[in-house]
Amino acid sequence: MTEHTIVHLSDCNIYQQDNLVLQHVNLNITKGEFVYLIGKTGSGKSSLLKTLYAALPLNQGKGTVAGHDLKSLSRRSIPLLRRKLGIVFQDFNLLDDRSVEANLVFALRAMGWTDMAKMKARINELLERVDLKGKTIKCPTPFRVGATAGGHCTGLAQSPQLIIADEPTGNLDPETSDEVLLLLRKLAQENDTAVLFATHDYRILENFPARIVRCHNGKVFDEEDVVV
Ligand SMILES: Nc1ncnc2c1ncn2[C@@H]1O[C@H](COP(=O)(O)OP(=O)(O)OP(=O)(O)O)[C@@H](O)[C@H]1O
Ligand SMILES: [Mg+2]
Repeated sequence: MTEHTIVHLSDCNIYQQDNLVLQHVNLNITKGEFVYLIGKTGSGKSSLLKTLYAALPLNQGKGTVAGHDLKSLSRRSIPLLRRKLGIVFQDFNLLDDRSVEANLVFALRAMGWTDMAKMKARINELLERVDLKGKTIKCPTPFRVGATAGGHCTGLAQSPQLIIADEPTGNLDPETSDEVLLLLRKLAQENDTAVLFATHDYRILENFPARIVRCHNGKVFDEEDVVV
């Protein structure tokens, strides 16, 4: 682990209830790194991600995310951890009839912002950075990062240290998926934000190559370690 480490898991066992989903998990992600998380349905991708944002407790092994020790995390410090994260789900209700700007306003409101002038300034700044100003993206899922479980709010608008995306492009058409990917990668590069992106979409992996981590047979492998 170095000062550039954003995620560090060492020999972690991850459970859903009493069911051991992933064992002996080792995972290191550094600042600004883009990492795909792949694996079959039920292989444990979401469980791994939930552990990282403390929706599942870590009881066995060592885990650190954005400087927070997952094992000794108190209920009170969970919001502090989540404030450093951007969490994106597929099954957030999508506002596919709204522009990017409108969705960002919605997301910022969900994060507790109230001052419209401040919101507009922040949104313009963000969109200019990613060349999306004035465009309408159907289902701009990454912006729907407002509320996480328990009402703790976090999101892209706060330049998170780590974006955790659980199949955010699952419902999107290919063109929009690509825009989402480009946006995420640009944000990651410019803000040194790490991204852990769970997906089933091999087209995305081919179009935007990056490190791949796979959940398989109850374990987590870096793709180069997997014997195909
Ligand atoms: N809330 C829960 N309670 C009990 N078991 C669960 C719960 N959620 C998931 N599981 C089980 O944990 C295992 C891993 O599920 P998980 O959702 O992490 O897989 P996944 O890789 O995200 O799958 P998918 O690709 O379908 O999203 C599965 O066997 C699943 O049935
Ligand atoms: Mg899942």
